[in-house]
Order: sequence, then C-alpha cells, then structure tokens
Amino acid sequence: MTDSVIRCENLWHTYPANKVVAVRNVNLEIKPQEIIGVIGQNGSGKTTLVKHFNGLLKPTQGAVFIKGKDTAPLRIQELAADVGYVYQNPNHQLFARTVTAELEFGPRNLGLSEEEITERCEHAIEFFNLQPYRDNHPYRIGFPLRKLVGMASIFTMQPAVFILDEPTTGQDNITTRTVYKLIERLRDTGATVICVSHDMILLAEVVERMLVMRNSELIADATPREVFSNYELMNSTHLTPPQITELSVRLRRDKNNLQDVKLSIDEMTDFTIATVKEKRGGE
Ligand SMILES: Nc1ncnc2c1ncn2[C@@H]1O[C@H](COP(=O)(O)OP(=O)(O)O)[C@@H](O)[C@H]1O
Ligand SMILES: [Mg+2]
Repeated sequence: MTDSVIRCENLWHTYPANKVVAVRNVNLEIKPQEIIGVIGQNGSGKTTLVKHFNGLLKPTQGAVFIKGKDTAPLRIQELAADVGYVYQNPNHQLFARTVTAELEFGPRNLGLSEEEITERCEHAIEFFNLQPYRDNHPYRIGFPLRKLVGMASIFTMQPAVFILDEPTTGQDNITTRTVYKLIERLRDTGATVICVSHDMILLAEVVERMLVMRNSELIADATPREVFSNYELMNSTHLTPPQITELSVRLRRDKNNLQDVKLSIDEMTDFTIATVKEKRGGE
C-alpha cells in the first residue's frame, strides 16, 4: 500500500533526439495535498521532471508511479483525470477555436454530462475573469490571458494533482494575483499542487516544500525556510531568495534557528514588532 500520489524511483530522462540527460536519477515522493515548489536555473530539468508526473514524458530509465500505478504502460488520457499539467508556454497547450471550447474540451473528454461541463466551464470563466474573451480565439488574446486560459482548461478537469509550470512568468499584476488566488483555492479544495517557478516571492508565500534542480539533478528537497537560508545552495543555483528573507537571515541572532528566517513582509513585521515590544518591556 502507498499513500503517495507521485513517486519517482531512480528516474532518468535522456532526450533521444540530442542525447541530453535532462533528469538524472531522481528519487522523490509526493503526498496528497502537498503544495510544492520546483526551482532551478533555466535548463536544469524542471519541466522535464514535472512532465513525468502526468505521463507526458516517460522515464528512459527508472520508474514513475502515480497513485501507485507505474506510468510506463499508461496513456496520457488515462492519467489526465488525476494529474493536470499547465504548460509553461500556452501555445503548446491550446488548440481549440474559442476560449469556451478550450475549457470544455477536458471535462468532455472525461465523459461528464453536458450540464456538468457547462457548469464547470462557467465557473472557470468567472474564476479567471475570462468573461470578455469567452468567444475569442485563444491566439487572439494577449499572452498573460492566454496563460490563464491554459490554467482554466486544466481547472475545469478538477484533477487531484495540479502542476503549474512557471505560471507567473510573463504575467502582469492582475494575472499574477489570479495565480495566487488559484493556488489558494486549490489548497482549500485539498488538491496537490506542484508549482515550477522563478518567482521566489510567490513560492515563499504559498509552498511548504521545495525541490531544487541543478544540472538535471535534484539537489535539495526541504522547506522554503531551509532552502532560502542556505546561501551555498542558493548561490550554486544562481537563484536569490526574496529580499525580506535575506534581510531576516542577516539579522537573525541564532544561525540555527529556522523560525527566525522570515518568508514574507507580514512575518517580518510581526517579528519586528514583537522584538521591539520585548526590548521596551525589558527597559
Ligand atoms: N524536447 C526536447 N528535446 C531535446 N532536449 C530538450 C527538450 N526539452 C528540453 N531539453 C533539454 O533538456 C534540458 C532540461 O530542459 P528543461 O527540462 O526544459 O529545463 P527547465 O524547465 O529547468 O528550464 C535542457 O538542456 C534542454 O535543452
Ligand atoms: Mg521549464
């Protein structure tokens, strides 16, 4: 018996065309309802790794199990109900002639009733604020909105595991806020969320576990506090933690106290106020 939703065992992926080893011997287990961030430089293997989680890619060595089932013999259609993957580039994902048709495609494939399809579609249009564009061709709307359509078309399938590949890259303020709202919503509904991102502020706020990729290898699997306060690790991936986290790390009195590592302005504010009060009280 297993209660993991995704498990990788000695997973390797070598692209046949150019013999690039994009994922090298990754072992990991993801449990239901975990909210996970995946970070790493461009080309470090993040997308290749997560595309194994819904069977878009199959291991060239090792194995991936989704809810205990080996993905190797399974077709992507058989996995789509469990795991949804939102492409980094929506142009690789979208193909229908209208936004509405795009959103209806997934639930229709799942064999849902027309009533249920319409209900899910309308709900997604409202959630992602796509009302003005519902009859537009997905290629006739701007990139940020097109990316939201990509998210919405997975949202309508309500998969238990939701993978977002760089959801805020190329987004403006409004669409970025929708991404935050989406992740919160998914968390509240008990979904497992895997978010590949360079947006450290987003990750600091929403994830509880981070996977760090470097040169095709998984080099760390820890909490955001642990990862962001590990300068050696961060430097080796050429990534920088949120500034507020860096400030808190510089200010902390006890190097071993992870609770002094702050992930957001709110946390830093509470900490500062408490420290000031403590000082005043002691005077
Ligand atoms: N379809 C592909 N064919 C051949 N090589 C690829 C393909 N996709 C990615 N790669 C290579 O695999 C490596 C990892 O890429 P990728 O998983 O896209 O990294 P990331 O998402 O971290 O930017 C890179 O060297 C990239 O050039
Ligand atoms: Mg990528």
